Amino acid sequence: MVKINENYLLLQNSYLFVEVNRRAEKYMEENPDKDVIKMGIGDVTKPLTPTVIKAFKDAVDEMADGETFMGYGPEQGYDFLAEAIIKNDFNRWGVDLDLDEVFISDGAKCDTGNIQEIFDLDNVIAVTDPVYPVYVDTNVMAGRSGLIKDDGMYANIVYLPCTEENDFVPALPEEDVDLIYLCFPNNPTGTTLTKDQLAKFVEYAKENDALILFDAAYEVFITEDDVPHTIYEIEGAKEVAIEFRSFSKTAGFTGTRCAYTVVPKEIKIKTSTGDEQSVNALWNRRQTTKFNGVSYPVQKAAEAVYSEEGQKEIMENIEYYLENARIIRESLSDIGLNVYGGVNSPYIWVKTPNDMESWDFFDLLLEDANIVGTPGSGFGPSGEGYLRLTAFNTLENTKEAMNRISKLSF
Ligand code: MLT
Repeated sequence: MVKINENYLLLQNSYLFVEVNRRAEKYMEENPDKDVIKMGIGDVTKPLTPTVIKAFKDAVDEMADGETFMGYGPEQGYDFLAEAIIKNDFNRWGVDLDLDEVFISDGAKCDTGNIQEIFDLDNVIAVTDPVYPVYVDTNVMAGRSGLIKDDGMYANIVYLPCTEENDFVPALPEEDVDLIYLCFPNNPTGTTLTKDQLAKFVEYAKENDALILFDAAYEVFITEDDVPHTIYEIEGAKEVAIEFRSFSKTAGFTGTRCAYTVVPKEIKIKTSTGDEQSVNALWNRRQTTKFNGVSYPVQKAAEAVYSEEGQKEIMENIEYYLENARIIRESLSDIGLNVYGGVNSPYIWVKTPNDMESWDFFDLLLEDANIVGTPGSGFGPSGEGYLRLTAFNTLENTKEAMNRISKLSF
């Protein structure tokens, strides 16, 4: 008799963004005359830039010619892209990497979700709370979470609250944890850690034989000086941290799909027989077995992101989104709401007025202002009482949305 993986039954309802979308679609179906502005899922609105598109098209033409056609590529990605990544995203910040420490993939969601499978089920994981749901859900699916408790937390997961009270800076775990998921600039709060604050986690990991899974998908939005661009700026981090990056928000690849994960060869974990195992070798084994690489045209398009013209175009888009973020922050502050993030991030984390619950504020914005946000409670128990807005819509829609919210009375 077939048995299902019953860990899946421990998951809460549907995946957060599927649920948000379901409710928004239902409202739009029932109210076809309403002009709904979506500021829920962090999906970009700016198209791929001209330089990226040209490289993409040229590579498609290469695929049409027997002389230049490419079949299977390396599962880890082509060297031309890994070289561009290392030079632009790491050497620039004084960090050296070898080509075989970079694994190009089709998304940071997939990589942050898949990485846990190379680690034993007995590992204790820690997550910041609120948190990007993929880290928790994939550990639930794997059987690492235990049962969900009345407070909405899984019994075997260690939660590190990030709230107004601690300025959204997580405390170091009090318990003995093995894998620590950190995402900075943070999704969903839009807040950051300084170098010193992040260094404390690196120190903790070294002292406790833990590993940090560092999601830096929003790095390109950093505008402030003291915010690290890669965890490897922190001394010793290469021994204790894996870093995830993405072209999705950086260069508009949400539909095109390209990302990468850095697994330094310095990370060595003791096996039960006392041998040292390279995590890089394990991830390589996993990827070569389960993944056949990102398509050649997509990798050529991603490479073009790093050209001089590509960088200029991409940064114009980022500034456009950051301007939207500024408008959201200032408009909501002006009407007396407490808002966070949006300075080094496309996400604005809004405290709900009058202690409303997150889903109630979501409904109010949808019904009275026709705006879709993402309820903070969907990101974890400490997200209750907050709502996330994204700056990825158009400037026009962003202004219109703020205009509508400013007319609401709370
Ligand atoms: C988000 O809205 O948090 C992100 O778009 C989700 C993702 O990148 O998978």
